Amino acid sequence: MIDIVISPDAPSAAAHVAGILHEAIRQHPAAVIGVATGSTPSPVYRALATRLTPEDVRGVSAFALDEYVGLPREHPESYHSVVFREVTRPLGLDARRVRVPDGQASDLAAAAEEYENAIVTAGGVDIQLLGIGTNGHIGFNEPGSAVTSRTRAVRLAAQTRADNARFFDTPGEVPTHALTQGIGTILDARRIVLLALGPGKAHIVSRALHGPMTAELPATALRTHPACTVVLDRAAAAALPGRGWGRSA
Ligand code: PGA
Repeated sequence: MIDIVISPDAPSAAAHVAGILHEAIRQHPAAVIGVATGSTPSPVYRALATRLTPEDVRGVSAFALDEYVGLPREHPESYHSVVFREVTRPLGLDARRVRVPDGQASDLAAAAEEYENAIVTAGGVDIQLLGIGTNGHIGFNEPGSAVTSRTRAVRLAAQTRADNARFFDTPGEVPTHALTQGIGTILDARRIVLLALGPGKAHIVSRALHGPMTAELPATALRTHPACTVVLDRAAAAALPGRGWGRSA
């Protein structure tokens, strides 16, 4: 079941998502949150940081969705660095409770299995924040990923590498592979909140919510989840059929 919330603009959509996360943490002080990277979630973390006290987050744990393979952790665009900069530090999380897949492991399959086990040991993800790629990926589950997929090493789609080139000095520096939670891993989260902002996401959002369910558009798998909320600004909602339906916030 997908609940759709359309906010007037990007800041209010991000604030709405921050409110959902804040409420989840308030209700469950030992919450396990799943965190996404990319441009979209940044304003959510900024809004959340202004609401949370050190007391609120004392027991909170976080798991990142993915990490580039082969990029040194110290690289400013590794998701270890991004998560520390945008999530751990501003939210005041205990760094020992924040996990990012080990994209530098010599045995990526073992690192993937270890990551799955760590999520289970933590009790599973209570609330997972997601973005959506322009090709419909969630995490780095590119088109063709099985709905049952688990954490694993994947090759990044050409579209994803082109989209993420803006974070690197040259397109050639964008890593070719990543370690990502699988679609099955993501669907195990008890609640999912997907945020999409801007006109560049309008077409894929419409297909994800209303097009045929297919592995070629990984985000369509979210329609099988019992508690998924999609939060959009008006621009990202612009291609929805019968635009104007759904709940507004
Ligand atoms: P973006 O990435 O937020 O930078 O658009 C979304 C994604 O790839 O999941």
